[in-house]
Amino acid sequence: MRFFTLLQLALAATGFVRAQVNHTVIVGGPGGVVAYTPNQINATVGDIVTFIFQQKNHTVTQSSFNDPCTPIEGGFDSGFQPVAEDNLSGPFPAASITVASETPVWIFCRQTHHCSMGMVFAINPNGKFDAFLAAAEATGNSASTTWSSSSLASSSSTPTITSTSTSPSPTVPSSSSPTTHLILVGNDGALSYSPSNITAQVGDTITFQFMAKNHTVTQSSFNDPCRKIEATSGTPGFDSGFMPVPAGSVNFPTFSITVNDTNPTWAYCRQDNPSSHCGQGMVFAINANESSSKSFEAFKALAEELNGTSSSTSPAKSNAAPNAYATCGLLINFLTVYIGLSLLF
Ligand SMILES: *[C@@H]1O[C@H](CO)[C@@H](O)[C@H](O)[C@H]1NC(C)=O
Ligand SMILES: *[C@@H]1O[C@H](CO)[C@@H](O)[C@H](O)[C@H]1NC(C)=O
Ligand SMILES: *[C@@H]1O[C@H](CO)[C@@H](O)[C@H](O)[C@H]1NC(C)=O
Ligand SMILES: *[C@@H]1O[C@H](CO)[C@@H](O)[C@H](O)[C@H]1NC(C)=O
Ligand SMILES: *[C@@H]1O[C@H](CO)[C@@H](O)[C@H](O)[C@H]1NC(C)=O
Ligand SMILES: *[C@@H]1O[C@H](CO)[C@@H](O)[C@H](O)[C@H]1NC(C)=O
Ligand SMILES: *[C@@H]1O[C@H](CO)[C@@H](O)[C@H](O)[C@H]1NC(C)=O
Ligand SMILES: *[C@@H]1O[C@H](CO)[C@@H](O)[C@H](O)[C@H]1NC(C)=O
Ligand SMILES: *[C@@H]1O[C@H](CO)[C@@H](O)[C@H](O)[C@H]1NC(C)=O
Repeated sequence: MRFFTLLQLALAATGFVRAQVNHTVIVGGPGGVVAYTPNQINATVGDIVTFIFQQKNHTVTQSSFNDPCTPIEGGFDSGFQPVAEDNLSGPFPAASITVASETPVWIFCRQTHHCSMGMVFAINPNGKFDAFLAAAEATGNSASTTWSSSSLASSSSTPTITSTSTSPSPTVPSSSSPTTHLILVGNDGALSYSPSNITAQVGDTITFQFMAKNHTVTQSSFNDPCRKIEATSGTPGFDSGFMPVPAGSVNFPTFSITVNDTNPTWAYCRQDNPSSHCGQGMVFAINANESSSKSFEAFKALAEELNGTSSSTSPAKSNAAPNAYATCGLLINFLTVYIGLSLLF
């Protein structure tokens, strides 16, 4: 694959040897999700971030912290990657970038209104993601601010940015309209749901997309995090069943639930081969009350206490491991945008 060749050249040129991490980010998704999932990652120099474009028609476009919904000159841009709503099987277009420094990289979708709907993403946001997101959403409040006309007209040379016509004033969608939330299960091989805890309204859909291995999402209860709610209280709960995903799959199975009330809802992965995923913290919550004793953190801690192996230490991810190359300005040259002209699959 050309992609590997490029990267290997870059690494060989610097003598930089380190196991790179390949981060997967889903762009959009089933049910009209207007989001990048996950919406932020920490990465070290040499890591790869692969964006997989799902339904319906999005971009991955570089912007800046101060102006979240405006492409920066010379920044990368995937262009629009349309995928029909009923196309659930792919293969989906993909674009990869190689992380060239540990400074933050800010990204948005330049489909009309998506940025002000919060469709933004960051690599190494360094604690500033919430501010970036708020600034993106705030662009929807001003009728005169759209990313399209102002930004593209003022920059004389933005060869990688496809020009678009001026869009009408954005309208902020009512926050009470049902939303689809996309949760990645086992993304990047991790024993986790990403995001692991969310706030959702009645009528919202939560779609779990199974990215790797062989997991479930199964409803449990706060006091008994790693057992079916049905077994502990008789209440029938949801259960996706096992969703095995062979390595190299192009097709990620999904399971959806509808939120019927705003009570806290608890769930876990019931895989216990070779060891309990739930006991390793693979749990999920909807509408946990963070200011009560039944917070998501408390639920996760209870799962680890009841079903974990007491002596096990959770594998700490060395996201911020400093290395000699992080400060090497040369690496800027290796910020390679690999737009999905060729499918990765
Ligand atoms: C990164 O992950 C994507 C999606 O899972 C995969 O298609 C690609 O081959 C991976 N790249 C590398 C360098 O491992
Ligand atoms: C990234 O690292 C910071 C601290 O270095 C941490 O607070 C944050 O939770 C991490 N974010 C992710 C998405 O792992
Ligand atoms: C994708 O969105 C762009 C920008 O709104 C539009 O020009 C293009 O026609 C759309 N493509 C499809 C196939 O809907
Ligand atoms: C799904 O979309 C991808 C990317 O546009 C395309 O290559 C593929 O053929 C589509 N699959 C179907 C079944 O339409
Ligand atoms: C709960 O979700 C938020 C938002 O995604 C995240 O920042 C936080 O780390 C999660 N809590 C835990 C314990 O994972
Ligand atoms: C998935 O895990 C379950 C439970 O451990 C097991 O019964 C099933 O055979 C596994 N499926 C595959 C394809 O590995
Ligand atoms: C919502 O209600 C439907 C129908 O009664 C049920 O199948 C579903 O599991 C419920 N959702 C949750 C999250 O409990
Ligand atoms: C958690 O532990 C309980 C009690 O030993 C057991 O019944 C349950 O199957 C375990 N669940 C998982 C997912 O490991
Ligand atoms: C969350 O818990 C706190 C403390 O128990 C309580 O005062 C508050 O009303 C709860 N919030 C909701 C929305 O239930």
